[in-house]
This record gives sequence, C-alpha cells and structure tokens, in this order.
Amino acid sequence: ASLELGPYSHFMQKEIHEQPKALSDTIEAVLENGFAAGLFGARAAELLPQVEGVKILACGTSYYAGLTAKYWIESIAGISCDVEIASEYRYRAAFANPKHLVVTISQSGETLDTMEALKYAKELGHTMALSICNVRESAIPRASELVFYTRAGAEIGVASTKAFTTQLVGLFALAVTLGKQRGRVDAAAEHGYQEALRQLPGSVQHALNLEPQIKAWSDKFAAKQNALFLGRGLHYPIALEGALKLKEISYIHAEAYPAGELKHGPLALVDESMPVVVIAPNDALLEKVKSNMQEVRARGGELFVFADLDSHFSESDGVHVIRTPRHVGVLSAIVHTIPVQLLAYHVALARGTDVDKPRNLAKSVTVE
Ligand code: G6P
Repeated sequence: ASLELGPYSHFMQKEIHEQPKALSDTIEAVLENGFAAGLFGARAAELLPQVEGVKILACGTSYYAGLTAKYWIESIAGISCDVEIASEYRYRAAFANPKHLVVTISQSGETLDTMEALKYAKELGHTMALSICNVRESAIPRASELVFYTRAGAEIGVASTKAFTTQLVGLFALAVTLGKQRGRVDAAAEHGYQEALRQLPGSVQHALNLEPQIKAWSDKFAAKQNALFLGRGLHYPIALEGALKLKEISYIHAEAYPAGELKHGPLALVDESMPVVVIAPNDALLEKVKSNMQEVRARGGELFVFADLDSHFSESDGVHVIRTPRHVGVLSAIVHTIPVQLLAYHVALARGTDVDKPRNLAKSVTVE
C-alpha cells in the first residue's frame, strides 16, 4: 500500500489532496461540452427540455451533494427540486410526476437503496432518470436513461471525499444546462459560470494549503464528546457533510444545523465543552451567521470559524478563525468542503482511529 499512498498516510488524505486534479478532470468534460445537453448522454437533448421538476435520490455523502444541488437547480435553472434519502423514498407512497427528472447520485453506482429507489420511481411512473456516478457501467447508470460520470478516479477511503466534490460539479453543470435551455442563463452568465469552474481547482488547492492550521485545531477536538456544525444556505449541506465526516471517522458525536435554527433547540446544548464549527463565507448571509455566532459565544461555546479572506473576522477569546480563500461566489460550497474534510481527518488521526476503514461502515452498501 505504501507505494500507492506516496507521501500520504491514508487513502483518505491522498484522496482529499487529489481533489484539484479530480475536479479539473471533471470540469474539463463540462467545459469541452459547453453546458450542452450532450454532457448527460445521447438522449439528453430529447429529454432534458421536457423536465419540469427534479427529484434527487441518494444516500450518505451523496445525499448531501443532492441537498447542495437543490439551491443551484432552483436558483439557476428556476426548476423546483426536492431531495430525498433513497431508503425513505423507496418505502413510501410517493407522488410521481412523469415530467420530473429523477437524479440519483452515487459514487459506487451500486448502493442498494439508491438502486431500489430508482426502480421504485420507474414503477411509480417516472420515465426520465439521470445517474451522477463515479464508476463506469455500474448498476445505477446502466438502469438510467442519462448519465454524468464524475472523473474522480478510484476512491478507496470508506468516507467519500473527492467523489463528493466532483458530484457537485456534475450537479452544478446540470443546473446551468437546464437554465440555459430555459433561457434563464444568457451568454454573459454562462461565461461567468465557466470562469467559476476554471478557477475552482486553484481555490481548492489554496484551501488544501490550510492543512497545517487545521491540524493544529485537531488536538482541541480530540478530547471532545460532541461537536456542532453550523452553516446557512448553500453551506448548510456542507456543515452536514462536515458533521457526518467527523462522526464516521473520529466517532465524535456531531450534529449540523442551519445556523438560524440554533434558537429552536441546539442552543440548549451549548456550554464551555461544546466546540461549534461555523462555515462563514462572505456571502449574503454573513451578517446573519455572525449574529448566530454571538448567540453561541454568549453561552460559552468555543467557536471554530472557517471564514473567507474578505469576511473580516478576528480571533478573540474562544473564537478561532481559519481564513479560506477569497469568496469564490456560486461554487463556494465546494471550496468550503475541503477544510471540514481535513478537520475530520486530523481529529481522527489524533484519536487513533482507523481512518480508511472506520468501524461498522462499508465503502459500498449493497445490502439493506
Ligand atoms: C457509504 C459510504 C459513504 C457514501 C454512501 C453512499 O455509506 O461510506 O461514503 O457516501 O455509502 O454511497 P454511494 O456509492 O451511493 O455514493
């Protein structure tokens, strides 16, 4: 294994660091194609213009990619989008509109619940399904009319990292493509989205360079029992992903909340022993997030803030700040994924857990 790992200690660390390459490979496919339907397969030019709504089905980290995509699909394409855990959908009498595109997201393409949810959607009357998948010719893309393959390369660590960020690129491309077809994305906007994609691998590399600072935080977490992650808007699913990663590999109990929900429950948990990780990019919700942070500080909670270079945060007693790159706009959620992945990784290392093979978990869940 040491040959394959190169300078890295674990596959997870290696795969986190492979993200600039995985992203640029995936982005290349999108840019070559120029947000045209062909990106999603031979039948996409016929099917995508018929789409009146999107239903996303997935499990685990892939589900959080879906939650992120909802923001893009509704804001860029102007199409309603709902996102559901595959294992829930497959057992409920769901409403199926055949004009809605079913989008499954799966790194492996073999997750049983996602596969069964797709079959069930077809039984209910859906006829259009798109698979966002990292493994060519696996079961889920084979059962779908449309496909977008992420180019993350083989992912070995049980906790998904580079598959997640490349899924987000595919989902973003879907939102822009649908928006373009519906006349909501003009040439100038399209150019802006292309530029955002071109700059993404560089911003992700910049975020990876924060690793020594993030590692320095990990000792503060290693002895904790619980952690809270907060985000708002597009960064709320990233907070969920950060909490999931921490649970999966360090076994610290972690929860994520949209920061505006603090008062409706989680604030009761906050005291001196509760670390609160905040994703605080310099977007329209920054001032709201800052006031949520004051609510935490006022109860003695220790804040660990990932803030863009330009969001003007300073360290103070009980407030630790790591500055992520300058705000990158519409793809900010992808950049902010990197620090939460690195945090989970280093906390797990500090606790001595089996990072690549966490107890009780499997890379691909092909049983119910
Ligand atoms: C397992 C893995 C996760 C992954 C999930 C869904 O739980 O440990 O990392 O997100 O399955 O897998 P999929 O292959 O469908 O994306």
